[in-house]
Amino acid sequence: MQCNVAPRALTNKHPSFTCLPEPRLLFITIHVNLTQYWQQRQATFEKALNQALPKKTVRPATIHEAMRYSLFAGGKRLRPILCLAAAESLGGPLKNALPLACAVECIHTYSLIHDDLPSMDNDDLRRGKPTSHKVYGEGMAILAGDALLTIAFELVARCPGWPRYKVADLITELSRASGSQGLIAGQVVDLESEGKPISIQDLRYIHRNKTSALITSSLRLGAMSANATPTQLKTLTQFGEALGLAFQVMDDILDITQTSAELGKSAGKDVKVQKATYPALLGLEGAQKEAKRLTTQAMNALKPLGSSGQRLHEIAQYMLTRKN
Ligand code: IPE
Ligand code: IPE
Ligand code: MG
Ligand code: MG
Ligand code: MG
Repeated sequence: MQCNVAPRALTNKHPSFTCLPEPRLLFITIHVNLTQYWQQRQATFEKALNQALPKKTVRPATIHEAMRYSLFAGGKRLRPILCLAAAESLGGPLKNALPLACAVECIHTYSLIHDDLPSMDNDDLRRGKPTSHKVYGEGMAILAGDALLTIAFELVARCPGWPRYKVADLITELSRASGSQGLIAGQVVDLESEGKPISIQDLRYIHRNKTSALITSSLRLGAMSANATPTQLKTLTQFGEALGLAFQVMDDILDITQTSAELGKSAGKDVKVQKATYPALLGLEGAQKEAKRLTTQAMNALKPLGSSGQRLHEIAQYMLTRKN
């Protein structure tokens, strides 16, 4: 028997070791490589993020403490890792992609703080810790989210720009993914759909916007920092769109199959508040099939990159088997 260590387990307080049987040796080899890659890039990213944020003693200290509390609570860092991996797959230097990786994680963390508010999903646990509003109060949690959203754009604005992509292109990219026709659109329809039967098309709309838009943008921004050709950008966009959908289907599945301790967030909430999810529409097995189908679609989209797409391929594979 060999042990497979999930990326989060390396940096998280709640390690989850899954023992896999011999026939999956090939997968294990890939996975160990990915674990090492993830660990190294995560360390580089966390250092850059720490430097990019005001210290928690900077006045007004409460807001900087609250921003850092949620940012450094132990997320998987999928979006920054995708940003860095996309840049590397096109031969771009990490230093170009790092500020963009920080920006997407700031946007993602802001979206989680607001998603957990009593007026939204009303959750008490996030990344294994009490949610921002539980620790700092609702007002400060809203402001910490606002400040993370704002600093994300400052980080992008400070980029020098590259021959094919000017800073304005990067800002437009991130704004579209995060705004009222991207992440916010998905959150709006997610809220409006609570307790109501919705079509698979509307559910797909929610997932595409609330989750897939920022995941796709993380890849696109990484690619832009590597001066991607339009064809390369299209390839990574198609990969991201399918991967993002698969990721949210898995998020819906894990809400049912895992415990709160394993997830680091409240499990079983989607059923309780009658959220529109894939398991609710297709059943658990149907949702698992859909996650596999979308992951295969994502992997197929990478084909034009050849062996340069290997790391992204491994990430897609891992996302399908993740436990949190
Ligand atoms: C949770 O995202 C919210 C969704 C869009 C599904 P993650 O599962 O990436 O959360 P962290 O960053 O690891 O906490
Ligand atoms: C959250 O989706 C998506 C965003 C924050 C944009 P969920 O509500 O399903 O995420 P979790 O399950 O709380 O992490
Ligand atoms: Mg939500
Ligand atoms: Mg939620
Ligand atoms: Mg969820």
